[in-house]
Amino acid sequence: MKKIKESYKFIIALVTTIFLINAQSVAQQNRVIIHADQPVSEISKHIYGQFAEHLGRGIYGGIWVGEDSDIPNTEGYRNDVLEALRDLDVPNVRWPGGCFADEYHWRDGIGPKDERPVRINTHWGMVEEDNSFGTHEFLRFMELIDAEPVIAMNLGSGTPREMAQWLEYLNYDGESTLANLRRENGRDEPWGVKYIGVGNESWGCGGNMTVEYYADLYRRYATFTKEYSGHELYRVASGWSDDQYGWTEHMMQEAAGMMEGISLHYYTIPTGNWSAKGSSVDFDEELYFAGIQRAAFMDEYIQGHSNRMDKFDPEKNVDLVVDEWGIWTDPLPGTNPGFLEQQNSLRDALIASITLDILNKHSDRVRMANIAQMVNVLQAMILTEGDQMIKTPTYHVFDLYRIHHDTNLLYTHVQNMNAYEFGGESIPVVSMTVSASENGAINITLTNKNPDQSEEIELEFRGGQISEIIEARTLTGSRVNSVNAFSDPENVIITDFSNYSLDGDILRVTLPSKSVTSIVLQ
Ligand code: AHR
Repeated sequence: MKKIKESYKFIIALVTTIFLINAQSVAQQNRVIIHADQPVSEISKHIYGQFAEHLGRGIYGGIWVGEDSDIPNTEGYRNDVLEALRDLDVPNVRWPGGCFADEYHWRDGIGPKDERPVRINTHWGMVEEDNSFGTHEFLRFMELIDAEPVIAMNLGSGTPREMAQWLEYLNYDGESTLANLRRENGRDEPWGVKYIGVGNESWGCGGNMTVEYYADLYRRYATFTKEYSGHELYRVASGWSDDQYGWTEHMMQEAAGMMEGISLHYYTIPTGNWSAKGSSVDFDEELYFAGIQRAAFMDEYIQGHSNRMDKFDPEKNVDLVVDEWGIWTDPLPGTNPGFLEQQNSLRDALIASITLDILNKHSDRVRMANIAQMVNVLQAMILTEGDQMIKTPTYHVFDLYRIHHDTNLLYTHVQNMNAYEFGGESIPVVSMTVSASENGAINITLTNKNPDQSEEIELEFRGGQISEIIEARTLTGSRVNSVNAFSDPENVIITDFSNYSLDGDILRVTLPSKSVTSIVLQ
């Protein structure tokens, strides 16, 4: 009898344990409800913009090699770079800076190349700028990659007249002296440039101004930004970076009616220390965790600026334009520190996807953004060395995220999300965006931040019929600091993905560790 009682107790204990384990695993299942019939806001393709500054090898060598170069080129632009950018559906490119914009005088960069003046790029390495890449070259580049130009104009050291005349040169279709000068220089039709910046970082390299002074100057310069020949303008005022909300608030109070957007810059510094930012290739899990944790500060900063903007613009007529973002590490050893050259790892790709998810989430206010920068500088899409070119892991994230261009962000409800923990800190392990295309497709991107463990996630669709998976791709690598090198350009690439099952309205996905996955369903 005692024996029977003992076995009975044992069975109860066993059943209880199994029940508890099951209950626990149910509680730990990442689970998200997707409301396919609840669009939240439009994700503008302009959130996926790029930034190309006259800085180091960003333009010269990286994009522009000149017609006489041995590097295969079309009209002086590298063929390999043109092709890679075309494949990315780049919506817009911001140019010529950055800090360079406020020392750039547009007349230096027009006319016969051998007559253009040589200036000093005092901001970036004190190198000689021969102005062989100017207005015509930039705008031809935009045509070749089918992207919209975003021209950051000089408020810091230029005059309102200079800014106004650049606009007339760009956009006037009549017979003015400036429009005819444009024709003499080879361009008959006006370009109709719409997006312009009116100063850059005017609190710092753009003139070290107080917000009161800049607000007055902004109003003055913006007064003379005319819509020549009916070409509509979209003017972006200089905002501050990070959590400097007071600047945004003052600008909105003083000049909201004279701008279409105000900028925000935020760079992820892995160590949090601008004097020793950390290596782009040699970092441990502590710095990996810190980097992706810091990238997510973007969410708080956008919300903070947007709240201040709401005070004066509750209808959200003025956009927040995040026209510089990305990871900024120490320069690669042996490179000119003024050239801001860094490698680009799988960690950086995850920083890109996490940031893009945040920008998408705030797409009711953020309608344009530009990663810094496009080629050879900071968190680049593309690295070049002589005639060689590689696509970085970040390039591949922008490729995966093309599915979100001009779609509708869908409302999602996170029922449960596990944490990725390190050193007593924890962050949600999966970051995601879910959008709907006009043709009814649902586009999902999922980032698993855990460097060592795969992660299962269950997605339930409500308010719409799902029948099949059209496409599934993933980007991962063997380590978080895996990179594409010139000797191994395909170390971190996108591959087809099949670790999922679709069962009615439930999609179950097993995300590889340290990965970005995209799935399109219909
Ligand atoms: O992207 C590099 C520099 O960072 C830009 O020129 C400037 O605007 C910012 O400080």
